[in-house]
This record gives sequence, structure tokens and C-alpha cells, in this order.
Amino acid sequence: MFQLSSEGLQAVKKELSRYETKDSAIIPSLFIAQKENNGWVSKDVVDHLSKVMEIPESKINEVFKFYTMFNQKPVGKYHVQVCATISCALVGARELSSHLCHELKVKHNEVTEDGRFTISRVECLGSCGTAPMMQVNDRYYENLTNESAMNILRGLK
Ligand code: FES
Repeated sequence: MFQLSSEGLQAVKKELSRYETKDSAIIPSLFIAQKENNGWVSKDVVDHLSKVMEIPESKINEVFKFYTMFNQKPVGKYHVQVCATISCALVGARELSSHLCHELKVKHNEVTEDGRFTISRVECLGSCGTAPMMQVNDRYYENLTNESAMNILRGLK
């Protein structure tokens, strides 16, 4: 059963106090909860937020199922999001994400056996001029090659 930590709860309450309507606090609160739930939003997370925020679950679900930055199933310790939109796709981003999957022996959006990685293809991450690029948790890596991307992943503790 998911429960926010006391810091998480305080952070959600702070978000609720910042906006005129509670709905506006859903996105930042989902981010807080997702981080505390190992990178994904489970049904328990939605139930808990619904109670804490006094917002119907259906409203929270509408938001969380629309935005791809909220994960609907478990992800690895490192969530590797490779941009596959046009600027990145033109310089090999799709091949790059397939290469990472091949090297790590995992399918897209699944978790490696050791629990460390999930590789996903995502829409534009706003770094088109330095394509191809990937986001690993909160960090961006740009101007990638197959080799440099794998070296970055191998270097993660
Ligand atoms: S198209 Fe890849 S970052 Fe914009």
C-alpha cells in the first residue's frame, strides 16, 4: 500500500496551497509520488493522492494517463528515454534505442533482469539541435552515438 513520506506529503500540501484550484496541483503531485514509488504510478498511488488531495481518482487518472512522463508500469532504476521524434529520428535515434535494447537484452518499455534499466522511445525532449539525445532519470545526454550512449549507461552505479 503506497503512502507518501512525511516530506512527500508536505510537498504535495505545498503544491495544493500554490494554486487557485486543486486540479492544478495534480501534475507536480504526481511527480512527487512517482519519485517515491520507484519511478511509476500504481493504482495505490492514485488512491493515496486522491485521499490526500481530496480530488476524485478519475481526475487524477485523466492527467496521469495522458502525459507520458508518468509511467503506468514499473521501470528500472534508470529509465532511459530516447527521443524518437523527427530531428533525433533523422540521425539514428530509433536505431540507437534498438541498440541499447539489444546490448541490455531487454525489449522496449520492459525492465532488465537486474532491475537497472528500462529503455523507452519518447517524443521530443526539447534538445533537437543536439540530436540524438536521451534522458536518463533527471539528466540529459546529447550528441550520442551507439557507443557513447552505452558507455554512459555502463558508467551508472
Ligand atoms: S526531436 Fe529529439 S529532442 Fe527534439
